Amino acid sequence: MANDGLNTRGNWGSKLAFIFAASGSAIGLGSIWRFPIMVGLNGGAVFVFAYLLAVILIGFPLMLTELTIGRHTQKNPVGAFKALRPGTPWKLVGYTGVVTGICILSYYSVIAGWSVGYLYKTLIGAFRGEMTWARSDQIFSSFTSNPLQVLICFLLVIILTTYVISKGVKGGIERWSKILMPMLFILIIIMAIRALTLKGAGPGVSFYLKPDFSKINPKLFFYAVGQAFFSLSLGMGTMITYGSYISKDDNLSSSAGWVCFSTTLVALLAGIIIFPTLFATPGINPQDFQANTGLMFQVFPLIISKLPGGYIFGLLFFILLLVAALTSTISLLEVPTAFLIDEHNWKREKAAAVIGTAAFLLGIPSALSSGASPFLTRIDLMMKMDLVFGNIMLAVGGLFITIFVAYVWGIPQALKEISHGNRSFKIKPLWIFSVKILAPLAIIAILIFTIILA
Ligand code: PFF
Repeated sequence: MANDGLNTRGNWGSKLAFIFAASGSAIGLGSIWRFPIMVGLNGGAVFVFAYLLAVILIGFPLMLTELTIGRHTQKNPVGAFKALRPGTPWKLVGYTGVVTGICILSYYSVIAGWSVGYLYKTLIGAFRGEMTWARSDQIFSSFTSNPLQVLICFLLVIILTTYVISKGVKGGIERWSKILMPMLFILIIIMAIRALTLKGAGPGVSFYLKPDFSKINPKLFFYAVGQAFFSLSLGMGTMITYGSYISKDDNLSSSAGWVCFSTTLVALLAGIIIFPTLFATPGINPQDFQANTGLMFQVFPLIISKLPGGYIFGLLFFILLLVAALTSTISLLEVPTAFLIDEHNWKREKAAAVIGTAAFLLGIPSALSSGASPFLTRIDLMMKMDLVFGNIMLAVGGLFITIFVAYVWGIPQALKEISHGNRSFKIKPLWIFSVKILAPLAIIAILIFTIILA
C-alpha cells in the first residue's frame, strides 16, 4: 500500500531552497562537460542559439509540467501516475523513469569519478611541466584503463551520493545545496572572467557567441533538444519528485524559470571558460575537442599547464565539476529512493543503500569501458548507455509526460494546480502550445532522428 506521502516526506524549507536543490540537479556534467562538447561538435554559436530555443520552448514548459504533477500528487513518478489515473498503464511512465534514473546514475557516477581522479592528480601536481596533447592523452588513457583507480573513484561518488540521500530531503539535499550551489556559481564566474582575459581569447569568443546561421540543420536541433532534456533533468520524473516537496504557496512557473535560467547560465559560462581558453592555447585545434567522453579531461590539463596560475585554476575547475556532478547524482538517486519509500514503505536509509549498491554494480561495466576491458571499450558501452538512457529514454519519458498532461489528465486540471501561488500565469499560452503541440511533435522528431542516426 502506498502511504499518502505528505506526512512522511517533508517539504523544502523555502522556495529558495527548492530552487537551489533543483538547480543542483540540473547543473552538472551535462552543462559543464557535455554542453561544450556539443557546441564544438555542432558548429559553435549556432548550437548555443538552438539550445537556447530548445530550453525556452520545450525545456521550460516540460519542467513546469513535471513540477505541476509532482506538487499536485505529492508523490514520486510512479505514485503520481497511479494517483492521477489509477489502474491504468500510465504508471509505466513512472517505472520507466525510476529505471532510467538508476541507469543514468550508474554511468554518470563513473564520469563524476573521473573528476575525483583528476582533482587528485591536479592536487599532486601531475599536470606540471611541459604538457603536450600526447602526454595529456596518455595520462587520461592510463587513468581510465586502470580498473582499480577508476572503480575506487566511482565508488567514492556513489558512497557520497548515498550518504546525502539517506539523510533525507531536509538534512541531506537542502543543506548540501545551500552550501554547494553558491560556491559553484562563484567558482565558475571567477574562471570565466579569467578565461576572457587570456591573451588570444577573441577568436574563441566569436566561435562561441557569433552564430553562423548557414550551419543550421536538423541534426543540430536533435542535439540541442536532447541537450536541453539532459541538462535540465527532464523526462524521468526528477522534477515530479522535486515538485512533490514544493509548498502550495510557491509560484511553480517562476521556480521553473529560475532553474532553467541558472542552468543555462552555468552552461553558457562553462563555454566561456572553455572556448576562449582553447583558442588561446597554441597548438590546439578546436576540431580535436569533439569526439569522445574523455575530451574535456584530455584538453584541460593542456590548458592548466599553459596558464599562469594554472595549478589553482585546475584545482578550482575540478572541485567545481565534482560539486556540480554530485548535486546531480543526488537527484538521480532521489527518484528511485522516493519511489521505494512511498510505494513500498521502505526506510530512507535502506532504500538509498540498496539503490546505491545497484547503481554501483550496474556501473562497473561502464567504468571498465574506457580502456580497462578491451571488449567493453570496443563496444563503447558507456556511450551506448548514454544514448539509450540519457537520450532515448529521457525523450520517451518527456513525450509521455506531455501527452499525459495535455490529453489524459487535462490542461484545465494542470492549470488549476499551477494557479496556486500564481494567480496571473502570464506565459499560459506558451505553456499550453508547447505541452499540447510543440513538445510532443519535437520529441517525436528527436526519437526518429535518434533511431535513424544511431
Ligand atoms: N541534469 C544533469 C546534468 O546536466 O548533469 C543530469 C541529470 C540529472 C539528468 C537528473 C537527468 C536527471 F533526472
